[in-house]
Amino acid sequence: MSEFTDALAAGLTRRRFIGMGAGLCALNLFACTSATRRKPGLLGFERVTASSEDAVRVPKGYRVNILVRWGDPLFPDAPDFRTDGAGSAGAQGLQFGDNNDGMSLFPITADRVLLAVNNESTNLEFLYSHTRPVFSEQDVLKAKAAVGVSIVELRRTNGLWTIDRSSGYNRRIHADSPTVLTGPAAGHPLVRTVGDPGGSQVQGTLANCANGATPWGTFLTCEENFDLAFGSSGADPATGRQRLYGLDPRRHDPQWFRHDERFDLFRHPNEAHRFGWVVEVDPFDPQSSPRKRTALGRFKHENAALVVNRDGRVVIYMGDDTRGQYLYRFVSRHCFCPGDQRMNCELLAEGTLYVAKFDAPGDLPRGTGRWLPLRHGEGPLVAPKFRDQAEILVFARQAARLAGATTMDRPEWVAIHPDGKSVYCSLTNNRHRGVKAGQPVNAANPRVNNIYGQIIRWRPWEGDHAAGRFDWDVYVMAGNPGVHAGTPYAGSEQINESNKFNSPDGLAFDRDGRLWIETDGDESNRGDFEGMGNNQLLAADPSTGEIRRFMTAPPGSEVTGFAMTHDQRTLFVGIQHPGARGAVSNWPDGGASKPRSAVVQIQREDGGVIGT
Ligand code: FEO
Ligand code: CA
Ligand code: CA
Ligand code: CA
Repeated sequence: MSEFTDALAAGLTRRRFIGMGAGLCALNLFACTSATRRKPGLLGFERVTASSEDAVRVPKGYRVNILVRWGDPLFPDAPDFRTDGAGSAGAQGLQFGDNNDGMSLFPITADRVLLAVNNESTNLEFLYSHTRPVFSEQDVLKAKAAVGVSIVELRRTNGLWTIDRSSGYNRRIHADSPTVLTGPAAGHPLVRTVGDPGGSQVQGTLANCANGATPWGTFLTCEENFDLAFGSSGADPATGRQRLYGLDPRRHDPQWFRHDERFDLFRHPNEAHRFGWVVEVDPFDPQSSPRKRTALGRFKHENAALVVNRDGRVVIYMGDDTRGQYLYRFVSRHCFCPGDQRMNCELLAEGTLYVAKFDAPGDLPRGTGRWLPLRHGEGPLVAPKFRDQAEILVFARQAARLAGATTMDRPEWVAIHPDGKSVYCSLTNNRHRGVKAGQPVNAANPRVNNIYGQIIRWRPWEGDHAAGRFDWDVYVMAGNPGVHAGTPYAGSEQINESNKFNSPDGLAFDRDGRLWIETDGDESNRGDFEGMGNNQLLAADPSTGEIRRFMTAPPGSEVTGFAMTHDQRTLFVGIQHPGARGAVSNWPDGGASKPRSAVVQIQREDGGVIGT
């Protein structure tokens, strides 16, 4: 029986897009092989209703506890958090960073783990005790200390995880920490600065969005909106290529450049070339310098989803989260060798970067795709545009565009199914599609005013993640069937009144193959978004198509960051920037307290496996 007839028999996969043309009524390419169809559903919890409450709500039979909040002390001598915002930069450097995002667990024993967490940005409205629009040097130092990465050791006692402040592994890496630039762009003239004429010693990592983890025990932290750290004291210094990365000399917030000239584009135009990388951190060696991996390309990295290919090479899928940017793949030159830590720690130094092109005969929401290599000397990637491979990597966005990649609706997280056969990616939203914007609609990104987003997926040909071709389809189009029935904006068939959401962002599989979807979207609960409530976490069963809401978050926050313990009895989830953008929240401490980003731990009251 073919996959198509299987799918028909299961009756699961027809799309709802009646008004959008025959293409969008196509079958779901990957659903329901005969093996998966016989399985019982993966989702066993009672769904959570949509909510605008200032709370984290989980299913009946589950409990939620705070693990760590912005400002919590991480060391024995670290000061307590000051709720009035008067804490110093020095204190912040010893405390958990702000706006936690992607995170990974690194087990030590069953009851001891290291948790590495990104601190993407900081909320200036909550960071200080003043609301002055001009910031002092101390203010800038504090902001720089609030971002980066926090590494903490956790211990489980009586079923609950807590931070061990006395652990020698605890560490803060921030925007002033020493890091090393590695790979083909290290030392290149484009990354040399007055402060670092060798072009390899970079001060700091920032805009650390989502993450990855390697099988050799390192954490990958992905630099995303690094442009927001830069300003300019002079006339327009931004080249067209820098503008391609959002660098704007008219931007004067967060004013870092006034007190740290590295962030002044006018004086140090190359400094911005030293951010926008995937950075590898060894959480087990607090003295080690994080390594910026230039072979993986410079763009606004979301996460880094890694798989060891069947030939032993390491393949990493990566999204570039900006409207009309692209989806990338890195294939390492050398193979992963279990046990050879010295070799494995160099795997991300060398390899080939590719960008995706999605083909769709007849505008069906499925088709085949190709990985286009970004290799110097091939096609349009030649001098004088690019003098060498390093220049291609520093300006990967420009190279990808010239190579003919498909413009996407803001690729956020990529997640690889635990069977290694299929890969999923959140395309969060894009209100600006159109020929004028240089982003004509295409089959993988079919809506002009895509306010809801979609999740696409692909299967590499012959199960080879290094192959040049793949099959793809749209896994789910988010939408609002209550508001837009019968139109493309109703979403896929598996979207209904009880599970609707917008702007999928975080995406992760657990070991059983449940797909967890975190949202970062419009929480107005009105108009196009009526009935969706605050941002949320949903669980999906790709074998049945079902999607079910698992958790709702406080106002102003997005749900981002996902890590599950090996026994699947604890789920760590990040609540980022509650109370942001004018929303009213006092989460997690309640009363009249300042809202604080935090990592929560979710468990079943009976100690069972999460999601079942
Ligand atoms: Fe930091 Fe694209 O999210
Ligand atoms: Ca995100
Ligand atoms: Ca987002
Ligand atoms: Ca965010």
